[in-house]
Amino acid sequence: MAFPESFIKELVERSDIAEVVSAYVRLNKRSGSNLFGLCPFHSEKTPSFSVSPDKQIYHCFGCGKGGSVVNFIMEIENLSYPDAVRFLARRAGIPVPEEERDVNFSRRERMLSLNRDAARFFYGQLKTPGGAAARQYIEKRGISPAMVTRFGLGCAPDSWDSLVSAMLKKGYTRAELLDAGLARASKKGGNGIYDTFRNRLMFPVIDIRGSVIGFSGRILDDGEPKYLNSPETLVFSKSHNLFAMNLAKKSKKGYIILSEGNIDVVSLHQAGFDCAVASLGTSLTPEQARLISRYTGELVLAYDGDQAGQRASQRAITLLQRLDIRVRVLRMTGAKDPDEFLKKFGPDAFENLLRRSEGHVEYRLADLAAKNDLKTDTGKVAFLKDAAGLIAGLPSAVEREVYARKTAEMAKVSGDAVSAEAERIRKRLVSQARKKRESESTRPARLLQPAARELRFENSRSAAAEKGVLRLLYYEPALFTEKRRFAQDDFSSPLLAKLFAELYGGVARGEQPSLAILSERFSQDEISVLTEIISAPVELSNSEQALGDYIEIIREEKLAMQHKRNSDAAELMKFAQSKLQRKGGYRG
Ligand code: CTP
Ligand code: MN
Repeated sequence: MAFPESFIKELVERSDIAEVVSAYVRLNKRSGSNLFGLCPFHSEKTPSFSVSPDKQIYHCFGCGKGGSVVNFIMEIENLSYPDAVRFLARRAGIPVPEEERDVNFSRRERMLSLNRDAARFFYGQLKTPGGAAARQYIEKRGISPAMVTRFGLGCAPDSWDSLVSAMLKKGYTRAELLDAGLARASKKGGNGIYDTFRNRLMFPVIDIRGSVIGFSGRILDDGEPKYLNSPETLVFSKSHNLFAMNLAKKSKKGYIILSEGNIDVVSLHQAGFDCAVASLGTSLTPEQARLISRYTGELVLAYDGDQAGQRASQRAITLLQRLDIRVRVLRMTGAKDPDEFLKKFGPDAFENLLRRSEGHVEYRLADLAAKNDLKTDTGKVAFLKDAAGLIAGLPSAVEREVYARKTAEMAKVSGDAVSAEAERIRKRLVSQARKKRESESTRPARLLQPAARELRFENSRSAAAEKGVLRLLYYEPALFTEKRRFAQDDFSSPLLAKLFAELYGGVARGEQPSLAILSERFSQDEISVLTEIISAPVELSNSEQALGDYIEIIREEKLAMQHKRNSDAAELMKFAQSKLQRKGGYRG
């Protein structure tokens, strides 16, 4: 099962971590020899995700994730170890040793190729008599032939088995069709299956690498459901992808337009707004927001004007701001969505709309104003309170001043009163934030703990020393060649002991320790702990001394723990005895 170590070594050497990571994260800060960017694994505004080209590791100071280039690919592409290795091998153009046929990998590859063949089938159907209804629909919606090609639109005929039989003929199995969500098992039982998508306009969902990962099918009339999407599969996750991101990522516009419907996206591209995307039937998720943040710092929300659309806008704004994405909101009047707007008023009008689109503060103020009746005193007070809270959260003093004045105008009160209220709220927010930071920094023991809950250390002083030993073993294996006076049995943490044993085993065989090779036997959380250990600076000048000190601490703590356990046991005995005596006394 294992890959030859020499192969992994070569792979890691040919997969520079900074280069690989750069395809996913903008590494635009430098500190010492490290590069920094916004962590792709948790939401943050200031970069705490570091990449060390020297050590060929990444480590996030915020969420604690870390590892080698292999771990990065495992995590970001959601792949198993062998799949990540193959992914990198393909990228680097190194052949994978043959015997390594992994079941999951071939399942993934098969599913992607099935999806591609299905997309080709749907596309081809447009030209057949069975595609007449969809052709008419495309025409009715004014979608140009160029867009049909660009998006690879197609149609699922009005039949129970046209895709199934075409794909079976191509050599795919029933199980593969079911797994890909392209077919469903018939209720009658047996091994009968039927097409999931029937009589629908088909939109392939293509990821940023160009693989067809799933489908959205739009109904051709006013029936329900309007959209049918592929279920979650080995290769498809609705919450992690956006429709048309594969095209929008190449746009020169410098911003992304987020709309609701696939038809809106197609219309927008057709009108020259080639930066439009849509989520796949869910409200914007944090993962989608992060996907967007990889390509742009500015987003225009073009959701429908209805209630649902407005609520979705609010949620999206909150998510996007957390990632420092500038958000503007389109207010379309005279049309319910971008598609209708473009049909009625044309691209130039839409361009105008974009230029006039409100920044999120205006948008939220207008929203608050609409919620309250500004003609009544109670309505005014409620509006001013909410607005002051909103203004207090703005980072720039100039902005706070501008919007305080605007708010005052809206409620017809004096600007100074609004400013004063906003500043008062702001002071409270600032001091709350400072208190929170202080209490965090005075709990260093907690910060020494790994991010994953199940990896808590029982004895943090000993664990710190054990980490020190591991760091030395990693960077100065020569120190460990002679038989040491202690084994990992002395370690308080089973995880650190296991890491030590694995690393030491390699060192004893004369190998250089390698995170990428260890990753096969350890979980991502465990590798993150090791990465944190080796990303701390090591003082090699007095390493002999340091090792001695660490060993001493580990021994001391081991004795202390034994002692504590013994006295806990004695304490328990005493307690039990006193209980017994009292019970006896009671009766007598
Ligand atoms: N939706 C979905 N799956 C998709 C895309 C959209 O379930 N792949 C859902 C959205 O959550 C939203 C609705 O469908 O509730 C979007 O509808 P709409 O914007 O009206 O879609 P369009 O294709 O633009 O339809 P219309 O022709 O009516 O404008
Ligand atoms: Mn629409």
